[in-house]
Amino acid sequence: MSRAASLIDRYRDRLPFEPGDPVVSLGEGGTPLVPALRLSERVQAEVWLKLEGANPTGSFKDRGMTCAVSAAVREGAEAVICASTGNTAASASAYAARAGLRGAVIVPEGKIAAGKLAQALMHGARVVALRGNFDQALDLVRALVSAHPIALVNSINQFRLEGQKTAAFELVEELDGGPDALFIPVGNAGNVTAYWKGFVEMGVRPRLFGFQAEGAAPLVIGAPVAEPETVASAIRIGNPARWEEAMDATTGSRGAVRAVSDQQILEAYRLLAATEGVFCEPASAASVAGLLAYGPGDCQRVVCVLTGHGLKDPQTALECSGAVVPCPAELGALERAVLD
Ligand code: F0G
Repeated sequence: MSRAASLIDRYRDRLPFEPGDPVVSLGEGGTPLVPALRLSERVQAEVWLKLEGANPTGSFKDRGMTCAVSAAVREGAEAVICASTGNTAASASAYAARAGLRGAVIVPEGKIAAGKLAQALMHGARVVALRGNFDQALDLVRALVSAHPIALVNSINQFRLEGQKTAAFELVEELDGGPDALFIPVGNAGNVTAYWKGFVEMGVRPRLFGFQAEGAAPLVIGAPVAEPETVASAIRIGNPARWEEAMDATTGSRGAVRAVSDQQILEAYRLLAATEGVFCEPASAASVAGLLAYGPGDCQRVVCVLTGHGLKDPQTALECSGAVVPCPAELGALERAVLD
Protein backbone atom coordinates (compact mmCIF):
# COMPACT_ATOMS: atom_id res chain seq x y z
CA MET A 1 0.00 0.00 0.00
CA SER A 2 1.23 3.52 -0.72
CA ARG A 3 3.10 5.66 1.78
CA ALA A 4 0.20 8.11 1.79
CA ALA A 5 -2.25 5.60 3.25
CA SER A 6 -3.15 6.14 6.88
CA LEU A 7 -1.63 3.90 9.51
CA ILE A 8 -5.10 2.74 10.49
CA ASP A 9 -5.94 1.72 6.92
CA ARG A 10 -2.64 -0.10 6.57
CA TYR A 11 -2.99 -2.17 9.75
CA ARG A 12 -6.74 -2.12 10.35
CA ASP A 13 -6.93 -5.91 10.83
CA ARG A 14 -4.59 -5.56 13.82
CA LEU A 15 -6.02 -2.33 15.25
CA PRO A 16 -9.28 -1.68 17.17
CA PHE A 17 -10.97 0.12 14.26
CA GLU A 18 -13.77 -1.10 12.02
CA PRO A 19 -14.28 -0.12 8.39
CA GLY A 20 -16.35 3.06 8.38
CA ASP A 21 -14.94 4.36 11.68
CA PRO A 22 -13.67 7.94 11.47
CA VAL A 23 -9.96 8.17 10.69
CA VAL A 24 -7.90 11.24 11.54
CA SER A 25 -4.62 10.86 9.68
CA LEU A 26 -1.67 12.88 8.47
CA GLY A 27 -0.03 9.99 6.60
CA GLU A 28 1.93 8.72 9.61
CA GLY A 29 4.08 5.59 9.81
CA GLY A 30 6.07 3.89 7.06
CA THR A 31 9.20 5.65 8.30
CA PRO A 32 12.68 4.98 6.86
CA LEU A 33 14.82 2.18 8.23
CA VAL A 34 18.39 2.97 7.26
CA PRO A 35 21.60 1.02 7.78
CA ALA A 36 24.10 2.78 10.04
CA LEU A 37 27.35 1.98 8.28
CA ARG A 38 29.84 3.69 10.60
CA LEU A 39 28.09 2.55 13.73
CA SER A 40 27.92 -1.01 12.44
CA GLU A 41 31.64 -1.02 11.89
CA ARG A 42 32.30 0.49 15.28
CA VAL A 43 30.24 -1.97 17.34
CA GLN A 44 30.78 -4.95 15.01
CA ALA A 45 27.10 -5.65 14.44
CA GLU A 46 24.48 -4.89 11.79
CA VAL A 47 22.96 -1.65 13.06
CA TRP A 48 19.81 -0.08 11.63
CA LEU A 49 18.22 3.25 12.48
CA LYS A 50 14.44 3.61 12.52
CA LEU A 51 13.82 7.26 11.68
CA GLU A 52 10.65 8.06 13.56
CA GLY A 53 11.40 11.76 13.17
CA ALA A 54 10.12 11.31 9.60
CA ASN A 55 6.54 11.14 10.88
CA PRO A 56 4.30 14.12 10.02
CA THR A 57 4.92 16.11 13.21
CA GLY A 58 8.49 14.85 13.58
CA SER A 59 8.13 12.13 16.19
CA PHE A 60 6.82 8.59 16.77
CA LYS A 61 3.90 10.04 18.72
CA ASP A 62 1.92 10.38 15.47
CA ARG A 63 1.46 6.60 15.24
CA GLY A 64 -0.34 6.61 18.54
CA MET A 65 -2.05 9.93 18.04
CA THR A 66 -3.84 8.95 14.84
CA CYS A 67 -5.44 6.14 16.84
CA ALA A 68 -6.14 8.13 20.03
CA VAL A 69 -7.70 11.07 18.18
CA SER A 70 -9.66 8.87 15.75
CA ALA A 71 -11.08 7.00 18.75
CA ALA A 72 -11.87 10.30 20.49
CA VAL A 73 -13.82 11.43 17.43
CA ARG A 74 -15.64 8.09 17.32
CA GLU A 75 -16.61 8.56 20.97
CA GLY A 76 -17.94 12.06 20.26
CA ALA A 77 -15.26 13.95 22.19
CA GLU A 78 -14.99 17.68 21.57
CA ALA A 79 -11.59 18.23 23.11
CA VAL A 80 -8.36 16.37 23.78
CA ILE A 81 -5.74 17.01 26.42
CA CYS A 82 -2.31 15.73 27.39
CA ALA A 83 0.62 16.38 29.68
CA SER A 84 3.83 16.44 27.70
CA THR A 85 7.53 17.03 27.52
CA GLY A 86 6.83 18.41 24.04
CA ASN A 87 6.35 15.81 21.33
CA THR A 88 3.03 14.47 22.53
CA ALA A 89 1.88 18.09 22.76
CA ALA A 90 2.94 18.81 19.17
CA SER A 91 1.31 15.66 17.87
CA ALA A 92 -1.92 16.01 19.86
CA SER A 93 -2.22 19.64 18.73
CA ALA A 94 -1.78 18.71 15.08
CA TYR A 95 -4.25 15.81 15.11
CA ALA A 96 -6.77 17.87 17.11
CA ALA A 97 -6.52 20.63 14.51
CA ARG A 98 -6.95 18.06 11.76
CA ALA A 99 -10.04 16.65 13.46
CA GLY A 100 -11.55 20.02 14.32
CA LEU A 101 -11.31 19.31 18.03
CA ARG A 102 -10.08 21.66 20.69
CA GLY A 103 -6.69 20.75 22.12
CA ALA A 104 -5.04 21.59 25.42
CA VAL A 105 -1.47 20.65 26.25
CA ILE A 106 0.17 20.95 29.65
CA VAL A 107 3.94 21.28 29.50
CA PRO A 108 6.63 21.91 32.14
CA GLU A 109 7.41 25.61 31.99
CA GLY A 110 10.70 26.41 30.26
CA LYS A 111 11.55 22.73 29.78
CA ILE A 112 10.34 21.89 26.31
CA ALA A 113 12.29 22.34 23.09
CA ALA A 114 11.50 25.39 20.95
CA GLY A 115 10.31 23.50 17.89
CA LYS A 116 7.73 21.55 19.88
CA LEU A 117 6.38 24.70 21.51
CA ALA A 118 6.14 26.38 18.10
CA GLN A 119 4.20 23.41 16.74
CA ALA A 120 1.66 23.30 19.56
CA LEU A 121 1.07 27.05 19.32
CA MET A 122 0.78 27.05 15.53
CA HIS A 123 -1.78 24.24 15.61
CA GLY A 124 -3.92 26.40 17.86
CA ALA A 125 -3.84 24.33 21.03
CA ARG A 126 -4.21 25.93 24.43
CA VAL A 127 -0.64 25.65 25.69
CA VAL A 128 -0.41 25.68 29.47
CA ALA A 129 3.07 26.12 30.97
CA LEU A 130 2.97 24.41 34.34
CA ARG A 131 5.30 25.49 37.11
CA GLY A 132 6.20 21.91 37.75
CA ASN A 133 7.60 18.88 35.97
CA PHE A 134 6.04 16.34 33.60
CA ASP A 135 5.07 13.94 36.39
CA GLN A 136 3.13 16.65 38.20
CA ALA A 137 1.51 17.71 34.91
CA LEU A 138 0.34 14.15 34.23
CA ASP A 139 -1.09 13.75 37.74
CA LEU A 140 -3.02 17.01 37.37
CA VAL A 141 -4.30 16.18 33.90
CA ARG A 142 -5.55 12.78 35.10
CA ALA A 143 -7.47 14.54 37.88
CA LEU A 144 -8.84 17.08 35.41
CA VAL A 145 -10.24 14.52 32.96
CA SER A 146 -11.94 12.61 35.76
CA ALA A 147 -14.10 15.70 36.29
CA HIS A 148 -14.53 16.89 32.67
CA PRO A 149 -15.50 15.21 29.38
CA ILE A 150 -12.14 15.65 27.69
CA ALA A 151 -10.27 12.79 25.99
CA LEU A 152 -6.86 12.11 27.53
CA VAL A 153 -4.33 11.27 24.81
CA ASN A 154 -1.25 10.47 26.87
CA SER A 155 0.10 6.94 26.48
CA ILE A 156 -2.01 5.75 29.40
CA ASN A 157 -4.67 5.84 26.66
CA GLN A 158 -4.59 2.32 25.21
CA PHE A 159 -5.17 3.56 21.66
CA ARG A 160 -1.80 5.27 21.78
CA LEU A 161 -0.04 1.95 22.36
CA GLU A 162 -2.11 0.25 19.68
CA GLY A 163 -0.88 2.78 17.14
CA GLN A 164 2.72 2.75 18.31
CA LYS A 165 2.99 -1.04 18.14
CA THR A 166 2.87 -0.71 14.33
CA ALA A 167 6.51 0.38 14.33
CA ALA A 168 7.37 -3.16 15.45
CA PHE A 169 5.25 -4.53 12.59
CA GLU A 170 7.26 -2.46 10.13
CA LEU A 171 10.56 -3.74 11.53
CA VAL A 172 9.43 -7.35 11.22
CA GLU A 173 8.23 -6.74 7.64
CA GLU A 174 11.40 -4.95 6.59
CA LEU A 175 14.00 -7.05 8.35
CA ASP A 176 12.41 -10.38 7.57
CA GLY A 177 11.78 -11.70 11.05
CA GLY A 178 12.80 -8.56 12.87
CA PRO A 179 15.95 -7.56 14.70
CA ASP A 180 17.80 -9.53 17.39
CA ALA A 181 17.70 -6.49 19.66
CA LEU A 182 15.92 -3.17 19.87
CA PHE A 183 17.59 -0.17 21.51
CA ILE A 184 15.10 2.50 22.52
CA PRO A 185 14.91 5.60 24.72
CA VAL A 186 12.50 5.38 27.66
CA GLY A 187 10.61 8.23 29.28
CA ASN A 188 7.02 7.61 30.29
CA ALA A 189 7.62 4.04 29.06
CA GLY A 190 4.71 3.83 26.62
CA ASN A 191 6.78 3.25 23.51
CA VAL A 192 8.87 0.34 24.76
CA THR A 193 5.62 -1.23 25.97
CA ALA A 194 4.04 -0.71 22.55
CA TYR A 195 6.98 -2.22 20.64
CA TRP A 196 6.86 -5.31 22.82
CA LYS A 197 3.14 -5.68 22.20
CA GLY A 198 3.75 -5.37 18.46
CA PHE A 199 6.58 -7.91 18.43
CA VAL A 200 4.61 -10.41 20.50
CA GLU A 201 1.63 -10.05 18.16
CA MET A 202 3.96 -10.79 15.23
CA GLY A 203 5.36 -13.84 17.02
CA VAL A 204 8.93 -12.55 17.35
CA ARG A 205 10.93 -11.89 20.52
CA PRO A 206 13.89 -9.56 20.07
CA ARG A 207 15.72 -8.41 23.19
CA LEU A 208 14.57 -4.96 24.29
CA PHE A 209 17.11 -2.56 25.77
CA GLY A 210 15.62 0.67 27.09
CA PHE A 211 17.71 3.71 27.96
CA GLN A 212 16.99 6.47 30.42
CA ALA A 213 19.08 9.54 31.12
CA GLU A 214 21.17 9.15 34.26
CA GLY A 215 19.43 12.06 36.01
CA ALA A 216 15.98 10.70 35.12
CA ALA A 217 16.38 6.96 35.51
CA PRO A 218 13.64 5.71 37.86
CA LEU A 219 13.40 2.31 36.13
CA VAL A 220 17.13 1.76 36.57
CA ILE A 221 17.30 2.73 40.23
CA GLY A 222 13.94 1.13 40.99
CA ALA A 223 12.30 4.18 42.57
CA PRO A 224 10.65 7.39 41.36
CA VAL A 225 12.92 10.40 40.90
CA ALA A 226 11.36 13.52 42.44
CA GLU A 227 13.38 16.03 40.45
CA PRO A 228 14.49 14.48 37.18
CA GLU A 229 17.11 16.40 35.19
CA THR A 230 18.64 15.80 31.78
CA VAL A 231 19.61 17.64 28.61
CA ALA A 232 17.26 15.20 26.85
CA SER A 233 14.14 17.16 27.81
CA ALA A 234 11.78 14.71 26.08
CA ILE A 235 12.64 12.00 28.62
CA ARG A 236 12.91 14.20 31.70
CA ILE A 237 10.47 11.99 33.60
CA GLY A 238 10.75 10.68 37.14
CA ASN A 239 7.73 8.43 37.53
CA PRO A 240 6.76 6.64 34.28
CA ALA A 241 3.08 5.80 33.86
CA ARG A 242 3.88 2.48 32.13
CA TRP A 243 6.42 1.39 34.74
CA GLU A 244 5.26 -2.21 35.23
CA GLU A 245 4.65 -2.88 31.54
CA ALA A 246 8.06 -1.54 30.59
CA MET A 247 9.78 -3.75 33.15
CA ASP A 248 7.76 -6.76 31.95
CA ALA A 249 8.73 -6.00 28.35
CA THR A 250 12.42 -5.57 28.99
CA THR A 251 12.92 -8.42 31.43
CA GLY A 252 10.49 -10.67 29.50
CA SER A 253 12.60 -10.19 26.38
CA ARG A 254 15.87 -10.89 28.23
CA GLY A 255 16.75 -7.22 27.91
CA ALA A 256 17.10 -4.44 30.45
CA VAL A 257 16.60 -0.77 31.19
CA ARG A 258 19.90 1.03 31.63
CA ALA A 259 21.17 4.57 32.14
CA VAL A 260 23.30 6.77 29.92
CA SER A 261 24.83 10.09 30.95
CA ASP A 262 24.00 13.41 29.32
CA GLN A 263 27.52 13.46 27.96
CA GLN A 264 27.06 10.04 26.34
CA ILE A 265 23.73 11.20 24.90
CA LEU A 266 25.24 14.33 23.38
CA GLU A 267 28.19 12.39 21.95
CA ALA A 268 25.84 9.96 20.24
CA TYR A 269 23.69 12.90 19.06
CA ARG A 270 26.69 14.55 17.39
CA LEU A 271 28.03 11.27 16.01
CA LEU A 272 24.74 10.41 14.33
CA ALA A 273 24.51 13.80 12.68
CA ALA A 274 28.16 14.05 11.67
CA THR A 275 28.89 10.48 10.59
CA GLU A 276 25.54 8.94 9.62
CA GLY A 277 23.82 12.05 8.28
CA VAL A 278 20.95 11.56 10.67
CA PHE A 279 19.78 14.47 12.82
CA CYS A 280 17.67 13.32 15.74
CA GLU A 281 16.80 15.06 18.98
CA PRO A 282 18.89 14.43 22.10
CA ALA A 283 16.43 12.02 23.76
CA SER A 284 16.44 9.87 20.64
CA ALA A 285 20.21 9.59 20.72
CA ALA A 286 19.91 7.81 24.08
CA SER A 287 19.31 4.60 22.13
CA VAL A 288 22.61 4.92 20.27
CA ALA A 289 24.38 6.14 23.40
CA GLY A 290 23.21 2.90 25.00
CA LEU A 291 24.52 0.82 22.13
CA LEU A 292 27.89 2.54 22.32
CA ALA A 293 28.10 2.31 26.11
CA TYR A 294 26.95 -1.28 26.57
CA GLY A 295 27.56 -2.84 23.15
CA PRO A 296 25.30 -5.15 21.14
CA GLY A 297 26.06 -8.16 23.37
CA ASP A 298 25.48 -11.37 21.45
CA CYS A 299 22.97 -9.69 19.13
CA GLN A 300 23.96 -9.48 15.49
CA ARG A 301 21.15 -7.41 13.99
CA VAL A 302 20.27 -4.35 16.02
CA VAL A 303 17.73 -1.56 15.53
CA CYS A 304 18.10 1.79 17.31
CA VAL A 305 14.87 3.74 17.42
CA LEU A 306 15.40 7.45 16.75
CA THR A 307 12.18 8.76 18.18
CA GLY A 308 12.18 12.43 17.16
CA HIS A 309 13.67 14.81 14.60
CA GLY A 310 16.68 16.98 15.39
CA LEU A 311 14.89 20.12 14.20
CA LYS A 312 12.64 19.86 17.24
CA ASP A 313 15.41 21.24 19.41
CA PRO A 314 17.52 23.77 17.49
CA GLN A 315 18.87 25.31 20.68
CA THR A 316 20.64 22.18 21.90
CA ALA A 317 22.00 21.61 18.40
CA LEU A 318 23.47 25.11 18.20
CA GLU A 319 24.92 24.81 21.70
CA CYS A 320 26.84 21.66 20.93
CA SER A 321 28.00 22.22 17.38
CA GLY A 322 30.69 24.32 15.72
CA ALA A 323 30.49 28.05 14.99
CA VAL A 324 29.57 29.51 11.60
CA VAL A 325 32.32 31.13 9.52
CA PRO A 326 31.70 34.84 8.92
CA CYS A 327 32.70 36.13 5.50
CA PRO A 328 32.58 39.45 3.61
CA ALA A 329 30.96 39.32 0.13
CA GLU A 330 34.21 39.03 -1.79
CA LEU A 331 35.86 36.11 -3.64
CA GLY A 332 39.25 36.08 -1.90
CA ALA A 333 37.64 36.09 1.50
CA LEU A 334 35.25 33.35 0.42
CA GLU A 335 38.14 31.21 -0.80
CA ARG A 336 39.85 31.53 2.57
CA ALA A 337 36.60 30.89 4.41
CA VAL A 338 35.90 27.71 2.44
CA LEU A 339 39.36 26.27 1.90
CA ASP A 340 41.48 27.21 4.93
N1 F0G B 1 11.91 10.04 22.62
C1 F0G B 1 11.23 11.18 22.43
C2 F0G B 1 11.72 12.11 21.37
C3 F0G B 1 10.10 11.48 23.21
O1 F0G B 1 9.42 12.61 22.99
C4 F0G B 1 9.70 10.58 24.21
C5 F0G B 1 8.55 10.86 25.06
C6 F0G B 1 10.43 9.39 24.37
C7 F0G B 1 11.53 9.17 23.56
C8 F0G B 1 10.08 8.37 25.37
O2 F0G B 1 8.93 7.67 25.01
O3 F0G B 1 7.54 8.22 26.98
O4 F0G B 1 6.92 6.37 25.45
O5 F0G B 1 8.89 6.15 26.95
N2 F0G B 1 7.92 11.94 25.06
C9 F0G B 1 6.67 12.19 25.80
C10 F0G B 1 6.08 13.52 25.43
C11 F0G B 1 6.75 11.94 27.25
O6 F0G B 1 5.34 14.11 26.22
O7 F0G B 1 6.31 13.99 24.31
P1 F0G B 1 8.01 7.04 26.17
